[in-house]
Amino acid sequence: AIERTLSIIKPDAVGKNVIGKIYSRFESNGLKIVAAKMKHLSRQEAEGFYAVHKGRPFFNDLVEFMISGPVMIQVLEGEGAIAKNRELMGATDPKKAAPGTIRADFAESIDANAVHGSDAPETAAVEIAYFFPASEIYSR
Ligand code: CMP
Repeated sequence: AIERTLSIIKPDAVGKNVIGKIYSRFESNGLKIVAAKMKHLSRQEAEGFYAVHKGRPFFNDLVEFMISGPVMIQVLEGEGAIAKNRELMGATDPKKAAPGTIRADFAESIDANAVHGSDAPETAAVEIAYFFPASEIYSR
């Protein structure tokens, strides 16, 4: 099925100037960018986005990292977009990410891991709505 997923290029990858290289991987693998914005998240926005992780030991470091610089946020659309994006990203920990994946090629650590991608249809819907009203998504 055609799906949509939320993708974030994190402050480490934005700082390394590899937005275009990451977009190119999306495009050459059948994922279309149907919404996008660059944004420096406030603490409140980052905490709200990652609310499911509140209470986890890495939560504070995660929030600090996500507000350390601007991020690039996009909605990707395509056949099986959620799983496809996760395949392109590779494992959360770049040390475990398969060769040729975005995290293997551009990430430094489990915190500075270059990209975020929704993990399921329900979270994708919530995450997309967190950043984009329907009027800012341009499908086909
Ligand atoms: P992300 O896909 O953005 O979702 C939550 C983030 O928390 C994750 O990527 C990692 O960058 C970060 N994180 C740090 N430590 C852990 C951990 N032990 N398990 C999962 N995520 C972690």
